[in-house]
Amino acid sequence: MLIPWCMLHLLLPLLLGVFAADDNCTATEVSLMQHREVHKAGSLGTLTLRTTNESLRAEHEAILDDALQAHKGCSKGKNCSFSEHSPMFPTPATIPVISYADAAKTQAAWQAPMKKTYDNGVRSPALGWNSWNQFNLDVNEAKVLSVARAMKSSGLLDSGFEYIIIDDGWGMPERDQDGQMQADPAKFPNGIKWLAEQLHGLGFKFGIYTSVGETTCGGGQPGIMGHIQIDAATFASWDVDYVKVDRCGWPGELFFAPGLDVGDLPEFARIVAGIDYPENGNWDCSGLMLFVLVRGCKYPASFYQVSGRVEGYQNLSAALNSTGRTMYLEICDWGEDDTLAFAPQIANSFRMLWDNFPQWHRVEEIYEYYAQVLAIPASTRPGAYAFADMLEGGVDGFLYNRDTFPASNLTRREAATEHAMWSMWSSPLILGYDVAKPSKVWVTEIMKNPALLKINQDPLGIAARLAVRRQKNFCPISDCYHTDVWVKPLAEGDVAVALVNVAGAYNQNNIFYTTESITVAWETLWLSPETNVSVYSATEQKDLGVMRGSVSMDVEPHGVTVLVLTPQKTTV
Ligand SMILES: *[C@@H]1O[C@H](CO)[C@@H](O)[C@H](O)[C@H]1NC(C)=O
Ligand SMILES: *[C@@H]1O[C@H](CO)[C@@H](O)[C@H](O)[C@H]1NC(C)=O
Ligand SMILES: *[C@@H]1O[C@H](CO)[C@@H](O)[C@H](O)[C@H]1NC(C)=O
Ligand SMILES: *[C@@H]1O[C@H](CO)[C@@H](O)[C@H](O)[C@H]1NC(C)=O
Ligand SMILES: *[C@@H]1O[C@H](CO)[C@@H](O)[C@H](O)[C@H]1NC(C)=O
Ligand SMILES: *[C@@H]1O[C@H](CO)[C@@H](O)[C@H](O)[C@H]1NC(C)=O
Ligand SMILES: *[C@@H]1O[C@H](CO)[C@@H](O)[C@H](O)[C@H]1NC(C)=O
Repeated sequence: MLIPWCMLHLLLPLLLGVFAADDNCTATEVSLMQHREVHKAGSLGTLTLRTTNESLRAEHEAILDDALQAHKGCSKGKNCSFSEHSPMFPTPATIPVISYADAAKTQAAWQAPMKKTYDNGVRSPALGWNSWNQFNLDVNEAKVLSVARAMKSSGLLDSGFEYIIIDDGWGMPERDQDGQMQADPAKFPNGIKWLAEQLHGLGFKFGIYTSVGETTCGGGQPGIMGHIQIDAATFASWDVDYVKVDRCGWPGELFFAPGLDVGDLPEFARIVAGIDYPENGNWDCSGLMLFVLVRGCKYPASFYQVSGRVEGYQNLSAALNSTGRTMYLEICDWGEDDTLAFAPQIANSFRMLWDNFPQWHRVEEIYEYYAQVLAIPASTRPGAYAFADMLEGGVDGFLYNRDTFPASNLTRREAATEHAMWSMWSSPLILGYDVAKPSKVWVTEIMKNPALLKINQDPLGIAARLAVRRQKNFCPISDCYHTDVWVKPLAEGDVAVALVNVAGAYNQNNIFYTTESITVAWETLWLSPETNVSVYSATEQKDLGVMRGSVSMDVEPHGVTVLVLTPQKTTV
């Protein structure tokens, strides 16, 4: 849920009023928010000063002051710019000394031992398609089958994209006389089992959506609460292969303003004033959006710590298992309820944060989350993967898929970067675009890149870590940007590195952004500079030859180059 800039003054007092009462929050939650908050509040500050409307400016300054004051050591009136309070980005020192030539040692060094007792036989991050990003609640049998046929004929199925998942909007608001969920006959006239049969016949696996609470997030369908056994049995009887369970409809969650989904609050708190810049650079209400400020310590723990929800997921996992049918389980708890502590043991993948949408700034926020939450590499292992959310490449956007917000799409370059980074993190790759549209062939080509899919599916299953961040001195409109190098150990001693020109939230063609030369020195990988390393570009799918000491690539704004490095064994 997003709040347009123009509407902010209506909502903000209400939000602050509600949250001012409770100053408690958990330590992990706070530190996570402070990273984000300071960075984004800095952006907001300078933006405020550029507003020509004095009345609007006063409002924005009040918002900013409040945000800055909430951050320790940053009092009212003080210039809390980005440079003054730079977020605590990981440095190369956080990458442990490891020998990339020894995959087992690499794995041990990067991964804290993670308990996973549940093992349903699925080991790799899922590859597939989900109906939500493009179709939202307007999903139906014809659309799903049309996408499935296109995925088959375009080679996506052969590339491994095997799951077709229908998200929210497939069912009736009421259960049937036997207490079973039922499909909406207007949308799925032949029923769910029939659809599963068709998809299986085409060679796909079939996934379905539900929620852990009383209702689903958007569609008003019943959730599994109180019906876990019967729902697991129903899914099995429909030949379901994948279950996505959302977090909505849990009783006791606070509701705080008409039109706002309280479930979105945890992510508000994380995003804190992430700003969506208009494509044309004009600060007007037609293009400018602002995420509402809700700071960590004013954010009641009751929002994200409802009792029993984790138990609901656990019960579902056990119930699916007891049907005897292998069903991939995706838990969509947005990183809440201490996801990393419970989900790897009961699920195949688990969402780490709130929804992606087809705007670069959102992709960048997810990217930052992965940069800053170092626990993610330790919580991704074969059979249990952190999920960065469905891909937005090729999705015809309307922001957060709501028609009240202006359209925007990821560019080709941004879509490729999204796909490459999700691959680097071993995140499931779940496509969102309408694959059947002829105008989307370019997206399909990006998604099928075999070198990146191999990195995504690497059997070690370790998420890439940020190893080097180079800050640009020059900060247009205060939104400083940086270039990054990410490192992902691969089986057999190879290492994938991603060289990213993050630039900023603007359109990639913003005049302030330039192509950057990004260098990976062998020292970053704890290799001797003398080592001969074979360099293969996964993004370009070509060999770049043997190099020594370092490799440098020119990377365009919002772009990425992924290289696979193979250190050659020294001949004795
Ligand atoms: C915050 O937590 C402390 C310790 O648990 C408690 O004493 C205090 O009343 C709480 N404050 C609020 C505003 O809930
Ligand atoms: C200035 O901003 C206020 C909101 O604070 C708005 O009501 C007013 O219409 C704006 N004036 C102009 C000229 O845009
Ligand atoms: C705040 O800091 C920025 C960046 O260092 C600087 O450009 C600006 O002049 C400062 N503003 C004030 C009021 O000190
Ligand atoms: C159920 O769980 C057990 C224990 O983890 C596992 O061995 C088995 O393969 C699972 N069965 C299914 C159908 O998921
Ligand atoms: C989970 O299952 C246990 C044991 O059947 C039951 O007592 C508990 O109420 C269930 N909780 C939820 C949230 O489903
Ligand atoms: C997004 O893509 C759709 C379809 O390709 C197009 O109609 C629309 O104009 C695009 N929107 C933007 C903001 O580029
Ligand atoms: C690297 O390759 C060069 C040229 O083939 C060779 O002379 C050199 O000994 C190699 N270095 C190492 C450390 O193997």
